[in-house]
Amino acid sequence: MKRDSEMGLQGEISLPGDKSISHRALMFSALSDGECRLENLNPGADVASTRDALINCGIAIDARHGVLYVQGGGLRPFSQPELAIHCGNSGTTARLMMGLLAAHPLHIQFTGDHSLSKRPMDRVFRPLMQMGANVSARDHKYMPVMLSGRDLWALDYSLPYASAQVKSAILLAGLHASGETTVKSPAFSRDHTEQMLKAMGAKLTVRGRSVTVKTLKKPLTAIDMLIPGDFSAAAFFMAAALLVPDSDVIIRNVGVNPTRTGFMEVAIEMGADITLANEREENGEAVADLRVRTSSLKGLAIHPERIANLIDELPLIALLASQAEGETLVRGAEELRVKESDRIHAIVTNMSNWGVKIFEQHDGFSIEGPTELLGGAVQTFDDHRIAMTMGVAGLISKEAVSLDNPGCIDVSHPGFFETLRALQV
Ligand code: S3P
Repeated sequence: MKRDSEMGLQGEISLPGDKSISHRALMFSALSDGECRLENLNPGADVASTRDALINCGIAIDARHGVLYVQGGGLRPFSQPELAIHCGNSGTTARLMMGLLAAHPLHIQFTGDHSLSKRPMDRVFRPLMQMGANVSARDHKYMPVMLSGRDLWALDYSLPYASAQVKSAILLAGLHASGETTVKSPAFSRDHTEQMLKAMGAKLTVRGRSVTVKTLKKPLTAIDMLIPGDFSAAAFFMAAALLVPDSDVIIRNVGVNPTRTGFMEVAIEMGADITLANEREENGEAVADLRVRTSSLKGLAIHPERIANLIDELPLIALLASQAEGETLVRGAEELRVKESDRIHAIVTNMSNWGVKIFEQHDGFSIEGPTELLGGAVQTFDDHRIAMTMGVAGLISKEAVSLDNPGCIDVSHPGFFETLRALQV
């Protein structure tokens, strides 16, 4: 994409609902005692995979006037699906659904697309097996995964890496296990599961990086949720406004849960002009309007303990770093290798093709900025976040960008380019 005019980006936008919160809202509503009204659910294909998986397991979900209504079925709401659960591109669907279903007497096959079939699933099913679930998988690691649920016993588990998906899967299984289940993480990861389970009445205690959940004795309490705008979607528009000269953009109703906003904090340390207004809270989740203006940036070293809170935004950090004065260093980010693509490889390939001085490390990268971006062809690796990062980069590149698969963006943000265009006055 090339800018339509030489003017900066201007105006106000609202973004689709947070993807992580949307998955959880659908799943946890199934365990509730009534009807849950979910507004501003993420419209992408990933969340649709979770909705379809739940419908496949007997949960009634209706859409009326753009709002979703989930009929909670109490403590044991699921029935045996006839079909495999196809998770598409969505790691969150696969991993959280495994945890959600592990204590129910069902036989379920989980499948996914080409990318998801290459991502490790053993990180979730090994702890679930320790709780008593029966699981088999291709090469003991990958999809297709066959799960036979049954009564579980509680687990005290120390995660080897910070992963909200694995933490959430174990906590969900723990809701139906006998005893108290505890998950300890080496660093803070997003805590939407903890916030939402608490808001729905589960007995859950957080002590630092350790979370304990008690067996559910009664269904979760049905609640209405207004899902905040996705911070990870907002980050692309923040980066665009920071880099395109003469920009001033307001992004309304963005979820600013502190376990998600590492990108904003790092960008501010790099020199970004970002301000928050109208700060409030909804069901335990912080929400605000963000104002972002063009800024001169300087490079920065990002320490490994900060990585989990900006893991999905690291491709954008690379883009900011390419335009910042001096060196930016990202280490401790080996988890990037097992996302929708190997994102270290994807970033390094595309950025170096566009002339950026970027150096690959096994667990991250370093960049020497600033460099004018050449533009041109981009390999998306069928990864939405790589496609959107390079789409934003195209706003400031010499040549127009051409993505080999722009359609991959639809897993999280259908209409991404239309929203970007709306800011080009
Ligand atoms: C997610 C957690 C993160 C993130 C993913 C969504 C979630 O993955 O990268 O996009 O909704 O819990 P990990 O928990 O595997 O790091």
